[in-house]
Amino acid sequence: MRQSMTLALAGAAMLAVLSGSVLADKYEGRKKCSSCHKSQGESWDTTAHAKAMESLKPKVKAAAKTKAKLDPNKDYTKDKECVGCHVDGFNREGGYTIAEPNKFLTGVGCESCHGPGSKYRGMHRKAGADFEKSKKTSPRKALADAGQDFDFEEGCNACHLNYEGSGWKGNKKPYTPFTPQVDKKYTFDFKKYVRDSKAMHEHYKLDGTYTGEPKFMYHDEFQATAKVGVKGSDD
Ligand code: HEC
Ligand code: HEC
Ligand code: HEC
Ligand code: HEC
Repeated sequence: MRQSMTLALAGAAMLAVLSGSVLADKYEGRKKCSSCHKSQGESWDTTAHAKAMESLKPKVKAAAKTKAKLDPNKDYTKDKECVGCHVDGFNREGGYTIAEPNKFLTGVGCESCHGPGSKYRGMHRKAGADFEKSKKTSPRKALADAGQDFDFEEGCNACHLNYEGSGWKGNKKPYTPFTPQVDKKYTFDFKKYVRDSKAMHEHYKLDGTYTGEPKFMYHDEFQATAKVGVKGSDD
């Protein structure tokens, strides 16, 4: 009796963990990210990712839609077959929902690539203050443990390679209508595209607050040619 109670309790605790209520990282939207990382935010504003919701409106990108056998006059901005890949964290905790659209989650923003930020963004603030005060560096490892993504590729694949026959193992419906069968230009090449700073955002010099692994494979390459940007604070 006693043992089965203990087991039932352990089971309930396991469920809480598995259902994500304990481990889940929440999406918060790009407002805070952009207020500290002003230059990246402004550069991102000019990208196709920032305007991804526009593309779902009637008459926008009509030729591309027709070619992909979509209706160019239809409003797809509230269509669950479409919205998921044109916003941040669709139907995830804190993420975009069709019922209550949040403008800071509209479009493919910071957290779609860098990971849901509710836990790690506070760590950036603290580490930045420590570095400013005493040049003390902080480990990237702690950010990765809090859900920040330093690899990117799987995240891109979930939108860009989500169609039947893409070779990406995670694929499941709804698929992207824009596949290489529709036009070769929709072929996704991670190593080429992730280096395209017009599509990600321009890169700006970091002070070096964070050190160690996991470091993105092109981090040093990007930093070697990075511009001097403008920083801000989130308050
Ligand atoms: C949440 C889904 C999503 C994620 C994650 C995502 N993308 Fe995209 N990407 C899109 C959508 C949607 C568009 C098309 C935007 C539009 O024109 O409406 C796009 C467009 C692009 C383009 C074309 C830009 C242009 O100028 O035509 C490139 C390049 C690109 N993405 C690369 C990447 C890379 C590299 C990653 C990962 C680091 C990534 N994307 C992550 C959804 C995503
Ligand atoms: C699985 C993710 C996914 C879904 C679902 C999805 N899209 Fe997209 N969409 C993308 C990606 C990725 C791109 C960028 C393709 C590229 O440029 O390589 C894109 C690009 C577009 C573009 C721009 C194409 C161009 O040539 O500029 C339009 C328009 C668009 N999507 C509309 C839609 C509509 C309408 C739906 C629903 C019927 C939809 N999308 C569903 C991922 C998705
Ligand atoms: C489509 C993917 C994508 C999106 C969207 C995106 N980033 Fe990035 N970001 C990257 C990549 C790739 C790097 C390079 C990582 C590295 O060098 O370690 C990067 C680097 C950075 C860096 C490090 C310094 C630099 O400039 O390289 C900061 C800070 C940053 N991003 C902030 C943001 C903010 C803020 C947003 C939203 C306004 C954003 N990012 C949106 C892909 C993205
Ligand atoms: C309170 C200000 C603040 C907020 C909010 C904030 N950051 Fe940062 N972030 C920093 C500071 C400070 C650093 C260290 C910069 C340096 O070394 O120059 C940093 C570093 C980074 C880096 C570089 C990590 C590396 O590999 O060195 C990325 C990427 C990044 N932030 C993205 C984001 C994203 C995405 C968000 C929103 C979810 C965000 N930040 C929110 C202040 C902030």
